[in-house]
Amino acid sequence: MDGKREIVMSGIRPTGFLHLGNYFGAVKNYVRMQEQFDCFFMVADWHSLTTHPDTEALKGHVKRVLAENIACGLDPNKVALYCQSHVHETAELYLYLNMLAYKGELEKTVTFKDKAKQQPDNVNAGLLTYPVLQAADIILHRAKYVPVGKDQEQHLEMARNFVNRFNHRYGDVFPEPFAFNFGEELVKVPSLDGAGKMSKSENQLATLYLADDDDLIRKKVMKAKTDAGPTEPNSAKPDYIENIFLLMKLVCAEEVVAKFDADFNACTIRYGDLKKQLAEDMIKFIAPIRAKAAEIQQDEAYLKQVMEQGAEKARTSAKATMDLVRSAIGLKYY
Ligand code: TRP
Repeated sequence: MDGKREIVMSGIRPTGFLHLGNYFGAVKNYVRMQEQFDCFFMVADWHSLTTHPDTEALKGHVKRVLAENIACGLDPNKVALYCQSHVHETAELYLYLNMLAYKGELEKTVTFKDKAKQQPDNVNAGLLTYPVLQAADIILHRAKYVPVGKDQEQHLEMARNFVNRFNHRYGDVFPEPFAFNFGEELVKVPSLDGAGKMSKSENQLATLYLADDDDLIRKKVMKAKTDAGPTEPNSAKPDYIENIFLLMKLVCAEEVVAKFDADFNACTIRYGDLKKQLAEDMIKFIAPIRAKAAEIQQDEAYLKQVMEQGAEKARTSAKATMDLVRSAIGLKYY
């Protein structure tokens, strides 16, 4: 954090366990970014209230998410790693942005429509203005780069609209934020059942979590869908086999992948052996992260210190922005 580098900001939802898809699709990118940018990574506990008003499990989730991200390599000394609710300036900026956000556009947001369908008895205003709060999170640090997946593209477009309205009405305070990731496309981690991406919601057995123990990893990998193998040399791989190779490429040595690829092409592949290999290499990858996350999660004093240190950095940046915002709007009377 030297104030000279470009600013990156992203939010992490404190629901669900981190899985392999989150790791390769997001956290790995964050870890790379911390070397090059001034990074703000925030646990979105306020946002979670829009869908999870019962907060009984919240503290545990927030701590786990912090522990898991640190275990993956995020360094609280290099980035600002903090909780949304610790930075009250966010709420003030959210209020101002709400005056620049229109009911019609908020109602048209895809995530709002989805959530309204999922929880018809709780279509609260927080849900409607979810993208406004997200915009506040980002522009509070005048961030330009936001490492997020495709599903957040519409929220970012809305954030740019709010920024442009603000700047146009009150003067240039904010840069436009854009989705940004290393590499052409985000790494998509396929699920083990050959159906789509690894994700928290669907088939639990098809997703590898960073908290899974060795036996569970073995069990999940061994259940992955295969078939009797190709009968023609050099055939095209069916989707579900291609997916297993994609997973191997993430955690296995290159020679190992090349060997099984050659076996496939020669019609001598044994999927049982391939899955055993994949399971053991997955375990080698996941076990140290799992152990580190568990250790951090039990260290209350350390987590408290991380949260305080992160909040402090985030507030320093937020205060500077809010000073500009209040002046620009004309709320400074003396
Ligand atoms: N909406 C994001 C998600 O569902 C989480 C989030 C909250 C976020 N605030 C953010 C992402 C700010 C990027 C920037 O994953």
